[in-house]
Amino acid sequence: MENFTFYSPTEFVFGKNSETLTWKLLKKHQAKKVLIHYGGGSVIRSGLLQKIENQLKENRIEYVMLGGARPNPVDSKVYEGIELCKTENIDFVLAVGGGSAIDSAKAIADGSKYEGDFWDLFDNKAKIEASLPVGVVLTIPAAGSEGSGSAVITKESLGLKRGVYSVFHRPVFAIINPELTYTLPMYQTAAGIVDMMSHIFERYLTKSTGVELTDRLSEGTLISIMEAARVIFKNPTNYDARATICWAGTIAHNGSLGVGRVEDWVTHGLEHELSALYDVTHGAGLAVMFPAYMKYTIDEDVNRYYQLATRVFGVERDENNKRGVALLGIDKLVEFFIEIGMPVTFDEIGAKKEDINFLLNQLEINRGFPVGSFKTLSKEDCRNIYLLACL
Ligand code: NZQ
Ligand code: ZN
Repeated sequence: MENFTFYSPTEFVFGKNSETLTWKLLKKHQAKKVLIHYGGGSVIRSGLLQKIENQLKENRIEYVMLGGARPNPVDSKVYEGIELCKTENIDFVLAVGGGSAIDSAKAIADGSKYEGDFWDLFDNKAKIEASLPVGVVLTIPAAGSEGSGSAVITKESLGLKRGVYSVFHRPVFAIINPELTYTLPMYQTAAGIVDMMSHIFERYLTKSTGVELTDRLSEGTLISIMEAARVIFKNPTNYDARATICWAGTIAHNGSLGVGRVEDWVTHGLEHELSALYDVTHGAGLAVMFPAYMKYTIDEDVNRYYQLATRVFGVERDENNKRGVALLGIDKLVEFFIEIGMPVTFDEIGAKKEDINFLLNQLEINRGFPVGSFKTLSKEDCRNIYLLACL
């Protein structure tokens, strides 16, 4: 097990009606004037935004609103939010929505405390030294941004999708009411499930040894996610299954499953180029890329893939054919993605083989080569993984 520091300051308030406590949490964090930031309108249609506004009015907390954070959030909305925060003297940013609204809120919070262009902070030109506090009312379990230290923003003019880690990106509170996820389209529910499973795989696929505890925690979480997913696809308003998926999404990415191990994150890098170019849903892009990554790296550590296949995907053990068993595990993962309606090939997300050179060049700008820690990958290796995803 590697040395580690685990810091997760977020206060999670979970369960039915938990959103009614938003005003109390804002008061606790001395919010005087709040920017409420949300996405394309699902929170208006569900009535959630109105409920939150009412609470703030009743409790005399001033606020201004900024909607329009779109999936794969972009820099233009962040600039708009920063301007608003500065002119309105905002001292707290409340994201109501999913990873996109939350990440956009985090970037707005950073930029409001920075004199220069906020993109400097996403472009390694400056370090985040301060940020406004961010709170979250979550409506989709997926990205895990409600408990993570990451924010991912796309600079549209350059087509660059960038993630930045900072302790300032950890929300001070996150309210999670599983009932708020009943209105999710099944496609988004499924994409969220793929995303949280991928957050576990990025950590599970490691060369670190002595990590049996986090292996077992990860495997249990993956099994619970798949079981709950199957319940939700039969009955979308099953509270316990929705609750399981909500909390799994948080623990998959708040860092607790990654402690003591070197994490990978190459597959996220490969996917971010797809969502930057085609605006594909992040989880759907991962459903295409993860099986390809796994097949390509299977020989890096067959035992690890054998463990995953036998412990999580129920493939029968066969010590004499570990590679075959490991491959069957990957097949089972693909079957699960298909079962929940996710795409598994380039074609299905509108990605094109002819764009692979462009994707690789963007990846080079974003990350540089080689990439990866589970397997060190050259540009040619990454090309081969994209090609596998075309099949
Ligand atoms: O925009 P609205 O109208 O709210 O609709 C959203 C959006 O269309 C809809 N939705 C959300 N909650 C709903 C709902 N519709 C009906 N009922 C509800 N309760 O779902 C769509 C997707 O929302 P979005 O916020 O984009 O989803 P997600 O949470 O998957 O966030 C994706 C973004 O997070 C980034 C991704 O790259 C992507 O940009 N990530 C952020 C991470 C982080 N900050 O730690 C880590 C992840 O790996 C990921 O990269
Ligand atoms: Zn992700």
